[in-house]
Amino acid sequence: MENNIKQILEKDRLNKEDLITLLGTNEERAKLIYARAAEVKQQMVGNKVYFRGLVEYSNICTKNCYYCGVRSGNKKVNRYTLHEEEVLAAARFAYAHNYASMVIQSGELSSPAFVKRIGKLLTKIKKISNGELGITLSMGEQTEETYRYWRECGAHRYLLRIEASSPELYRKLHPNDKIHNYEQRIEALHLLKKTGYQVGTGVMIGLPFQRLEHLADDLIFFRDLDIDMAGMGPYIEHEDTPLYQYKDQLISKRERFTLSMKMVALLRIIMNDINIAATTAMQTLDPVGREKAIKVGANVIMPNLTPVSYRQNYLLYEDKPCIDEEASDCIECLDNRIRMYGGEVGYGEWGDSKHYYKRTGKTEVNQKE
Ligand code: 5AD
Ligand code: SF4
Ligand code: FES
Repeated sequence: MENNIKQILEKDRLNKEDLITLLGTNEERAKLIYARAAEVKQQMVGNKVYFRGLVEYSNICTKNCYYCGVRSGNKKVNRYTLHEEEVLAAARFAYAHNYASMVIQSGELSSPAFVKRIGKLLTKIKKISNGELGITLSMGEQTEETYRYWRECGAHRYLLRIEASSPELYRKLHPNDKIHNYEQRIEALHLLKKTGYQVGTGVMIGLPFQRLEHLADDLIFFRDLDIDMAGMGPYIEHEDTPLYQYKDQLISKRERFTLSMKMVALLRIIMNDINIAATTAMQTLDPVGREKAIKVGANVIMPNLTPVSYRQNYLLYEDKPCIDEEASDCIECLDNRIRMYGGEVGYGEWGDSKHYYKRTGKTEVNQKE
């Protein structure tokens, strides 16, 4: 078996069967996958880890995803939208502390007023940072026009997780209606590419009804779509969601964590030059989960810059970490943690996806566009 794993890892291109075998290895043999991924990472992207200061802009969402704590159907959530000044303060903090980039994430809204408000915000962030802060958006499915407008206002990366690349599984995780449509989500990913973003997607790992075969297909989906960035993490149940009723059918949290580690490592192996995030959900299941993810392939981390008073209201899942820590507490903590795991923070560097530049033939810019 061990030799078999080694042989598979030496192949130039892993197919679905290979991926299923690798995803099914026990924790001991998984170390072979981790070692290979660490090697690939070192060779292709080095040991730098890039900060993306995360601002959770609003928890108001028109969608009702069955897994998510801030779904519109959850009436227990106090809804908020940050004031412009609060976002700008976070941007100034990121800029002053050499984060180089930020991510603005929000529940999905698409009213003209919302679209415009985000556009204005982007313009202001660019202005206060002399054009130097890189901005990633994560605001769900929007029209081509909106994507283009936000791109022109200064956003240059976009995260839109496919959540589950299998249409059948996707359907089990979302209401069956027009705003939760699988094909439309795929279309949105294509529009993001078309409008010139570095495009990131991802899935949740350890979902109810999900099998290893689905996860192998997810990896192949990423490769076929030729993505620039990925963010994946374990599924974590939330009491006030419909999927909570399946909590007894889930694999254990430890298994979900290990499976997430394997997904990160395998993605690094099959798409060696993309950016991969060490996600907060990984830290939820293991106190050093993000650092472990960095060791096996991740190279991006998203320290939370949302004002602490709002964080309780952005709980997509249970036990989310760093809820009480001010942004300034996290910097030193994270820097030390990353160092301990052999990484080095790329302060002041955008750390764009190398894959994007290869894919588009553009020349890499470090800061101002
Ligand atoms: N567990 C883990 N991740 C979740 N997300 C939403 N709900 C959960 C959950 N219960 C993730 C989704 C979404 C991202 C913002 O948070 O993948 O894209
Ligand atoms: Fe809204 Fe995103 Fe939660 Fe779905 S996962 S309900 S789109 S915030
Ligand atoms: Fe937030 Fe350590 S990363 S306190």
